[in-house]
Amino acid sequence: MNKDFVSFLASRVVNVASVPQRSPFRYPGGKTWLVPYVRLWLRSITPPLRELIEPFAGGSIVGLTAAFENLAKKVTLIELDSDVASVWKTILHGDVEWLANRVGTFGLTPDSARALLNLRPRGTKERAFMTIVRNRVQRGGILAPGAGVMKEGENGKGIRSRWYPTTLQRRMLDIARIRNRIRFVEGDGLAYIERKLQRKNVAFFIDPPYTVAGRRLYTHSDIDHERLFRLAKRLGGEFLMTYDDSPEIRRLVIDSRLDCETVLMKNTHNTKMLELLIGRNLAWLRHPDTSQPIFRELFAQTNSDLLDSPL
Ligand SMILES: C[S@@+](CC[C@H](N)C(=O)[O-])C[C@H]1O[C@@H](n2cnc3c(N)ncnc32)[C@H](O)[C@@H]1O
Repeated sequence: MNKDFVSFLASRVVNVASVPQRSPFRYPGGKTWLVPYVRLWLRSITPPLRELIEPFAGGSIVGLTAAFENLAKKVTLIELDSDVASVWKTILHGDVEWLANRVGTFGLTPDSARALLNLRPRGTKERAFMTIVRNRVQRGGILAPGAGVMKEGENGKGIRSRWYPTTLQRRMLDIARIRNRIRFVEGDGLAYIERKLQRKNVAFFIDPPYTVAGRRLYTHSDIDHERLFRLAKRLGGEFLMTYDDSPEIRRLVIDSRLDCETVLMKNTHNTKMLELLIGRNLAWLRHPDTSQPIFRELFAQTNSDLLDSPL
């Protein structure tokens, strides 16, 4: 084991400000901080990857990065939450211009947000717009039932503190420009994995709701973690799974004879936490090809003191 590199991982956090933010969502449990590691992982796969599958897509930062940076020829995103799904369906397979225009022309105030969010959406694109607004005005971007609307916001900017209409429009239209390479499927990620078990030359990035925080953060958080581990072990292709570092998950890693390593990140409350990366063989992480520019980039993008994230 490359001890230096592993201790490096345990002492530094990725500076998320150095990672291009491509998702229209600010997603609780989002994996922007993992992007430099994902680049290292996907570049280590030979032959070049035909497809990256993200069965628990959420804000899809990993899938989007892979598509934009040509780390996979094709990307497939799967998500069960129908509000989140409405956004991906509209951007990738629907009327993205309507959505971008609606975002650009909406006068966001506490009253207009309340009125909008009390409406019943008539169709997918209206639902997508309401979801984008909710994601921007609710505390922590949380879309689960019971999440509150922020009052003070940041820097005293109240409800508008996370509302960047021009940036959101640009992100949505940029994604739409490469939509011939990204496919969205609304449904159950576990069932999707089960259907694709035998596929070779594909890789799965698996980021399920975590065991501890999942219930508070997502509308759908009940996952059969044991079943997910059983399926992951049987996958014909490569996979990388992320989890909270809990005794339950450590036990599943050992029982499944999978490989795992801890990496450091900072959560939205700026608390440093260790997260688990799980795979069949994490040699790409312990013995990275140090001649690769991507490796130097990972060093450059890590910092012992994380800057504030502009999500
Ligand atoms: C940890 S989040 C993913 C975050 C994502 N990696 C990102 O960077 O934004 C987990 C996601 O899984 C979704 N989910 C929960 N159960 C699911 C299921 N059975 N099938 C597909 N998606 C599911 C949740 O709605 C949530 O969006």
